[in-house]
Amino acid sequence: MLKNSGMPGKPKRIFLTGATGFLGTVLLRDLLLNGHTVTALVRAQSGGSVSDRLKDRLLDYDPKFPWDQFSERNLIAIAGDTALSHFGLSKSLYERQVAETDVVIHNAACTALETDWDSLEAINIGGTRRAIDFAAHTPTKSLVHVSSAYVAGERTGVVLEGELLMTGGFRNGYERSKAIAENEVREAAASGRIRSLTVRPSIIVGDSRSGYMCPNHHFFDLIFRLLTIRRMIRSKTDDCRFRIPGEPTATKNFIPVDYVSGLITLLLETDAAWGKTFHLTDPAPIRLEMLNLYVRTALDWPDLVWCPKSEIKELSPLERRFFRSIKIYEKYFWQEAFFDQSQLKAVLGARLPISDQMSQKTVNRMVKFIQTKYAGRDTARKERSAKKKLESV
Ligand SMILES: NC(=O)c1ccc[n+]([C@@H]2O[C@H](COP(=O)([O-])OP(=O)(O)OC[C@H]3O[C@@H](n4cnc5c(N)ncnc54)[C@H](OP(=O)(O)O)[C@@H]3O)[C@@H](O)[C@H]2O)c1
Repeated sequence: MLKNSGMPGKPKRIFLTGATGFLGTVLLRDLLLNGHTVTALVRAQSGGSVSDRLKDRLLDYDPKFPWDQFSERNLIAIAGDTALSHFGLSKSLYERQVAETDVVIHNAACTALETDWDSLEAINIGGTRRAIDFAAHTPTKSLVHVSSAYVAGERTGVVLEGELLMTGGFRNGYERSKAIAENEVREAAASGRIRSLTVRPSIIVGDSRSGYMCPNHHFFDLIFRLLTIRRMIRSKTDDCRFRIPGEPTATKNFIPVDYVSGLITLLLETDAAWGKTFHLTDPAPIRLEMLNLYVRTALDWPDLVWCPKSEIKELSPLERRFFRSIKIYEKYFWQEAFFDQSQLKAVLGARLPISDQMSQKTVNRMVKFIQTKYAGRDTARKERSAKKKLESV
């Protein structure tokens, strides 16, 4: 957690969506440790209460988290669904929540990059509309909206925080849905219905201290698939050369989950941040060739290399199959925009913490986390499924 170095204000009553997700879990912990009271809207699942879901996630991230202390006083879990009218809450519960909320943090989203448009529309766009409505009825009308740096779609060059151009192409339905959702927030704020604070993280990666990541997360998935394929290859041959198509000089923007969470916690307490949009991104993004170096060292796989577009035709059948199995990420391997942070720097000034950048140490930490945490039965099951997926493409 970032030390909240900026003028911690009065503890707030926060209504948070998406608290069981990768970022949401870390954010929930930071908000509670910063003295806020949180009502978390959580999707119900069979076989456990919504409160149990939160507890499992918080303790998975931080085994020492004093759950009993917070759950008695500062944390309420309520069952709901952002895709449903009024979040699926009864009229009386909805009205009570609205009246008792100081700030809404809308973080829930469908993060599957290429899932069906109906789900993306219902959850990402519809869910944001409902969060706007909810916030508009609260006493302070304050909404923190978690967007994405990738609302910039396929734009290249410098992207400013104040800009949201809907004209560029999008790599997938997820990007498009997040851009439309952010635009809804902008319009609601421009019309005076709400006051908003929008954050746009880049690719969120493991915790800067523990390497903690969620198994459904994209970077986790990629590393996990590489671990599986490395094992498969090593069991069959001594020639471990393996190529992944991608432009070695392209940059990729990664940001640790605890950094994003700490910045959201800091920004929501900063008056000058309201009404603005911020890129929560790495100011010096890593080149793919460096990332490859760190990953292959962490995986102890010296023959893992990027190959340029011109060499795609020469891929072996196995390389081709692997490439197809990670096709949803491929569009991110060639180029990306540079996410300007002038607004973030101007608002936070000296209070802007320095982020832990991708380095050999951070990549080692994440790979170790994946290897240790998911060793044993769980790994065997996931590996079988990754292998099956690989064989079916
Ligand atoms: N991860 C990244 O690299 C990244 C980068 C930029 C921006 N973002 C944004 O950051 C936010 C958090 O991302 P994440 O990676 O933490 O996502 P995540 O791990 O996929 O978690 C998504 C959260 O949203 C909840 N959710 C989804 N649909 C819902 C619904 N219909 N009703 C209620 N809750 C619902 C999920 O609940 P369940 O547990 O019930 O599924 C989960 O708590 C999202 O807005 C995402 O677009 C993420």
